[in-house]
Amino acid sequence: MDKKNIDWSNLSFGYIKTDKRFVSSYKNGAWDEGALIDDDMISMSECACVLQYAQTIFEGLKAYTTEDGRTVVFRPDLNAERLANSSRRMEMPVYPEDKFIEAVEKVVSANKAFVPPYGTGATLYLRPFMFGINPVIGVKPAEEFQFRIFCTPVGPYFKGGAKPITIKVSDFDRAAPNGTGFIKAGLNYAMSLHAIVTAHKEGFDENMYLDAGTRTKVEETGGANFLFVTKDNKVVTPKSNSILPSITRRSLMIVAKEYLGLEVEEREVYFDEVKDFAECGLCGTAAVISPVGKIYDHGKEICFPAGMEKMGPVTQKLYDTLTGIQMGRIEDKFGWVREIK
Ligand code: PLP
Ligand code: COI
Repeated sequence: MDKKNIDWSNLSFGYIKTDKRFVSSYKNGAWDEGALIDDDMISMSECACVLQYAQTIFEGLKAYTTEDGRTVVFRPDLNAERLANSSRRMEMPVYPEDKFIEAVEKVVSANKAFVPPYGTGATLYLRPFMFGINPVIGVKPAEEFQFRIFCTPVGPYFKGGAKPITIKVSDFDRAAPNGTGFIKAGLNYAMSLHAIVTAHKEGFDENMYLDAGTRTKVEETGGANFLFVTKDNKVVTPKSNSILPSITRRSLMIVAKEYLGLEVEEREVYFDEVKDFAECGLCGTAAVISPVGKIYDHGKEICFPAGMEKMGPVTQKLYDTLTGIQMGRIEDKFGWVREIK
């Protein structure tokens, strides 16, 4: 199969329309069979629940070309499970988890020409999403929904790829203690837009959100979880009920322990202790692991020892091992990688 004529190595994290997308509709209490379609446009009532009350949830995962030329996706079962959890919290019907994986396979298979070749640094990003589509004017959930998956070839989420970034401690909160921070709902991102625009205007790449209840503990950024490395090489990640359970972070904790033999700890992380860590990284499907070089906190700076030119040594090992598994260079000990024919 011929690949599309795209400058793969210079892609940014943006949207490029591909050939096919999957759509399934929910009506009268049941999902239809779903199908691959060509049309990328969606037509709906001006009063659709998603437009008025933001009843929408989504997922993100990637397809990769391995060193030996296979096309694979990474742990789609966990995206299926997380979308189901998001659905329950948002009063939306669950899209069956086995059907979710089938739909992922169909979309990647139908868009193989858009899966970036091995070695280009680019990947195919898949965006499954679901939203309430029928007209709703009183505040209540929709009764009709669409589940869709589109895909787009992407490059690095942060400009500069694996170069350390600078983040700021945000004055805004991301998620309330009993709110929706633990699911992937569009509303969590809508409320972060002002915060990210503010951070960018001030010259920062991202925000570090603290817990909204006490503003003493590290939560996450707008689109990734945190990983820290202590001076004695322990990998630490914040535990909180109001952060998204990142599939990348959960995988990296297993990589750290089972592949690299490092000690790992998932626990509350107080902002006061951040200055004592040796390394800091952001992890997520889009971010992979993006090293943080500097954190700005209201006039004070925390600078990590690896500096602003390269990743710290443990972050680099985690990055190399995870991407090695995804690209088929390192043994997939836990069956995380699923081949797409
Ligand atoms: N946290 C937030 C708020 C996110 O949007 C994402 C992206 O999906 C992540 C963390 C990372 O999660 P994952 O590794 O499952 O992509
Ligand atoms: C992802 O990593 O898949 C996300 O959804 C993050 C988003 C901010 C692009």
